[in-house]
Amino acid sequence: MAEVSFTLNGAAITVEAPPTTTLLDWLRERRGLTGTKEGCAEGDCGACTVMVTDAGGAQALNACILFLPQLAGKAIRTVEGIAAPDGTLHPVQAALVEHHGSQCGFCTPGIVVSLAVAHARGRRDFDDVLAGNLCRCTGYAPIVRAAQAAAEAPVPGWMDDRPHVRAERCAGGAGGSQPPADVHVPRDACDLADWYLAHPDATLIAGATDVGLWVTKGLRDLGPVAFIAATPDLRRIEADDAGLRIGACVTLAELHPVIAPLHPAFGELIRRYGSEQVRAAATLGGNIANGSPIGDSPPPLIALGATLHLRRGDVRRDLPLEAFFLEYGRQDRAPGEFVEAITIPRQPDRLRVWKLSKRFDQDISAVCGAFNITLTDGTVTAARIAFGGMAGTPKRARTVEGALLGRPWTLAAIDAALPALAEDFTPLSDMRASGAYRLEAARNMLRRCWHADQGTPAHVLEVLP
Ligand SMILES: Cc1cc2nc3c(=O)[nH]c(=O)nc-3n(C[C@H](O)[C@H](O)[C@H](O)COP(=O)(O)OP(=O)(O)OC[C@H]3O[C@@H](n4cnc5c(N)ncnc54)[C@H](O)[C@@H]3O)c2cc1C
Ligand code: FES
Ligand code: FES
Repeated sequence: MAEVSFTLNGAAITVEAPPTTTLLDWLRERRGLTGTKEGCAEGDCGACTVMVTDAGGAQALNACILFLPQLAGKAIRTVEGIAAPDGTLHPVQAALVEHHGSQCGFCTPGIVVSLAVAHARGRRDFDDVLAGNLCRCTGYAPIVRAAQAAAEAPVPGWMDDRPHVRAERCAGGAGGSQPPADVHVPRDACDLADWYLAHPDATLIAGATDVGLWVTKGLRDLGPVAFIAATPDLRRIEADDAGLRIGACVTLAELHPVIAPLHPAFGELIRRYGSEQVRAAATLGGNIANGSPIGDSPPPLIALGATLHLRRGDVRRDLPLEAFFLEYGRQDRAPGEFVEAITIPRQPDRLRVWKLSKRFDQDISAVCGAFNITLTDGTVTAARIAFGGMAGTPKRARTVEGALLGRPWTLAAIDAALPALAEDFTPLSDMRASGAYRLEAARNMLRRCWHADQGTPAHVLEVLP
């Protein structure tokens, strides 16, 4: 059992529950707060969106893949806590009524919460804000009109949430006794290193955007777990002349404002990574450690020459990120070893990245291609090209890189190098795309890279029919 303290709709509360209890199940089954809906139970639909406030401010998160210990010391507001205690509607609720922003109403609680978070943060990019809230009947025009209408209204006083509860994270019993051996919340990376060495079979849980589904869809019993997302020294981003060192538990939402000015194409990719709710939870370390061949961050990180920092006990080792991915489902990580950080070397921005998926928002890549081509007097003097979705791991296109090196950066030279892509990759066919389509799409991405260099609009939203 884990004991966790947080604030729920303004009231302090301490809960004792199995550590992989989801917030959604607890709200609905234990608190009777059934306004928060269950649609997909896998982070896709946003029906379960709740507002979670910590020192970084308010965020929208999916309660269905959020375990209770992840909430220690935070303030949670469900749809029941968005209106005032006397029933006065929040400005976004009043505007949704006024602008007919609801029909069946199933998505409405999640949309209310997402818009209340955006309202509290002064956001106006409502298409991005709502990308993780699926509405099947109203359509988004009235919802966005309502969001715009409410935007200038002041944040109501009753929404003033602060994470004021001192965390009693996962303490085993009353009075803050030692946590049970099978649940750990590390104080810092050293504490995590010691505990993981002693429990090498344990599951590390960072944002739980993967692990959450092991429980809600796979019905798995995880055994010993460590909740690492709040580990302070794994959450830092440090910048110096050499580069950017990103702690493993930095979320995609936290990474975005730092990476976008340096490498705008990476920033644009993150904007399309899952949804607001997913980016607020998912960590960079989790996106690498899960070893997925279709994770979106490895291709640009590999193209930028990123280094992975691994730690096992007191032993640290570094390796080029591409060397971490050995084969499908297998990474170069020993039992008890974890990702501590990722470093991106400082460099002039030449990065181009394209994610190809069936939908623009909230979809997994069929192919993700990242290109970092260095030219000297029009000749290719360095090339790092990496793809996701083309093999069992994220992988460099080394034969193509070799075929481009020393050649002029012309369409003719690119076309001459493109057949080499079939030597680098034999992509699989699956529900996202056929192998032949993936290969053709990857070839076209390299051509697109050249066209983008010539100033031809190549962004999917810029290309007009
Ligand atoms: C709705 C939805 C949409 C998504 N969209 C995208 C998308 O567009 N692009 C994309 O790439 N992914 C997407 N994902 C997948 C997921 O968000 C990512 O893989 C995410 O980055 C995982 O990070 P996490 O912190 O949530 O990891 P967790 O779920 O906490 O952990 C994932 C794995 O990594 C391990 N782990 C975590 N941190 C460490 C560490 N520091 N050291 C060692 N092991 C560690 C865990 O033990 C586990 O095996 C989506 C997921 C959902 C649910
Ligand atoms: S129920 Fe669909 S995102 Fe949680
Ligand atoms: S109002 Fe029915 S799903 Fe949005």
